[in-house]
Amino acid sequence: MEDRELLGRVPELLLAWYDGNARVLPWREDPSPYRVWVSEIMLQQTRVEAVKPYYERFLAALPTVADLAAVPEERLLKLWEGLGYYNRARNLQKAARLVVEQYGGELPGEWEALRRLPGVGDYTAGAIASIAFGKRATAVDGNVLRVTARLLHRRDNILDPKVKRRVEEELLEILPPRVGDFNQALMELGALVCLPGGAPLCGRCPLSSLCRACALGDQESLPVKAKAKPRRVEERTVFLVFCGGRAALRRRPETGLLSGLWELPQVPGKLSREEAEEQLRQWGLRPVTSLCQTPPAKHVFTHVEWRMTGWSCQVDREGGDFSWADKQALKGDYPLPSAFRAFGEALAQGLAPGLAPGES
Ligand code: ADE
Repeated sequence: MEDRELLGRVPELLLAWYDGNARVLPWREDPSPYRVWVSEIMLQQTRVEAVKPYYERFLAALPTVADLAAVPEERLLKLWEGLGYYNRARNLQKAARLVVEQYGGELPGEWEALRRLPGVGDYTAGAIASIAFGKRATAVDGNVLRVTARLLHRRDNILDPKVKRRVEEELLEILPPRVGDFNQALMELGALVCLPGGAPLCGRCPLSSLCRACALGDQESLPVKAKAKPRRVEERTVFLVFCGGRAALRRRPETGLLSGLWELPQVPGKLSREEAEEQLRQWGLRPVTSLCQTPPAKHVFTHVEWRMTGWSCQVDREGGDFSWADKQALKGDYPLPSAFRAFGEALAQGLAPGLAPGES
């Protein structure tokens, strides 16, 4: 069977399966453009199960494009806290402001107009156009590339943009009238049945009678992905400096990793106690307790991994070039990126009134 003929048989089988197996997800119950857009941005780098609670909270706090456009950045980042990849939230707001200015607060339904919004790539434009507006567009993500590589038994590198473009063109030709459901069904099959790693559930797959990889017993070796560059590992030393129930924070530079966000003061390298004391002196801070080491922590970004050593102490006054936040402010005004989540307990301990770090 030719590729085209094989693909042509997919919609009917897949949609019948989807009708009986689709997960109930909050953005599916009411697929309005705004709700679909927010869900797709959150889902860009985060799993469905992890997104769900953030999604509900976000939509409750910011139910319309206009609310999102108007919300102060700190509050926006607080709502996004835990999802990571904060530029997604910033772009979302930039786009919301454009939508208010240029489209009267209603998302445009055309793929090209959606694609021009900050944070909206080919996939996301296709997902919104098809799911929320019923437009004929494809939405090819990693799930869909895995499904098609197995179905058609293709060994080309799915990270190659040319490979993706070919799949988009092929799917465009066989899109059924229920475009949004079809695109979501392909993703859903990838997420629930045609699983990554070594374990697709071919016995439950509505496409197994068509699938070339399944017929050849070759599904576990597909798809082929060219090796990504290994992540750079960086040692960092993080300081938890407290004064009278407040902790020292500072802003990160406006460019680069976690740009413009609040952070705990930190320096490159793994500092010994003496080096950490010297660093505090250089910042103009005078410890009044001996430095206490926190458990080591790790955070994995896309291209870098931080291995963090933490030193904690109380100082005699709020010196240095820092902002000082109490417990309340840390909850509200100073969203800390999840890279620092591992220090939450040490922070809570240092902020507790009347206790030096290490005491409890
Ligand atoms: N991943 C990204 N978008 C999705 C959607 N609409 N349904 C399920 N998984 C998804």
